[in-house]
Amino acid sequence: MDNKRVIVPLDFPDASSALALAARLDPRLCRVKVGKELFVAEGPGVVSQLHQRGFEVFLDLKFHDIPNTVAGACRSAARMGVWMMNVHASGGEAMLRAAREAVESVTKPPLLIAVTVLTSLDDVSLARVGYAGTVRENVENLARLTKECGLDGVVCSAQEAPWVRAAAGSSFTLVTPGIRLATDEKGDQARTVTPPEAVKLGADYLVIGRPITRAPDPVAVLDAIRASLGESREAA
Ligand code: C5P
Repeated sequence: MDNKRVIVPLDFPDASSALALAARLDPRLCRVKVGKELFVAEGPGVVSQLHQRGFEVFLDLKFHDIPNTVAGACRSAARMGVWMMNVHASGGEAMLRAAREAVESVTKPPLLIAVTVLTSLDDVSLARVGYAGTVRENVENLARLTKECGLDGVVCSAQEAPWVRAAAGSSFTLVTPGIRLATDEKGDQARTVTPPEAVKLGADYLVIGRPITRAPDPVAVLDAIRASLGESREAA
């Protein structure tokens, strides 16, 4: 079992805030995620600083463009040495295959995962952008396409995890955001589950943001979450 399944998103507007939180975390006990807000402000430098501190980084930039452009972006990200990165599955088969090929250009390729349907979309908003079928049908279809194109897994809500498992099989990495502790406010995540529930539903990695990052004692919250998942207090 992976002893650091929690990924802490560094959703901050600048490197100093992100690195201040990272300084309190142990890179042997969790991973971190760099998303659009931080990356647009600070660029690859902040990723490199996190690497220097020993963190494995999930670069969450959700690329979605023509195949050649996405391949270039994926190659650049892979060269930065990130642990995981992602694209939108709705970019289509040619784009997904180009992304897969591009990350193979480095010796130790990152895990390449895809977003199926954004968890902020429901059946009605999906129909408004012209998609036929329900969220569930589209998630299953895009998960199968992602797998066929040789990617390693998808980002999905924990509620979707059982459908994705059924559609794409066991050797497929599921990363789930939208996790809340039993005691938390839900924030803007409409459908939430607790960390042990997410694992039970099939999640391999859990992106847990505000319950940790906004806590008075982020380390204590992370410790409690890891204990609830049966992860050892000791670094592997
Ligand atoms: O603070 P919170 O736990 O809601 O943070 C969730 C993180 O997961 C954020 O960085 C957000 O961008 C990301 N995310 C998400 N829903 C997705 C994909 C990523 O909330 N479908």
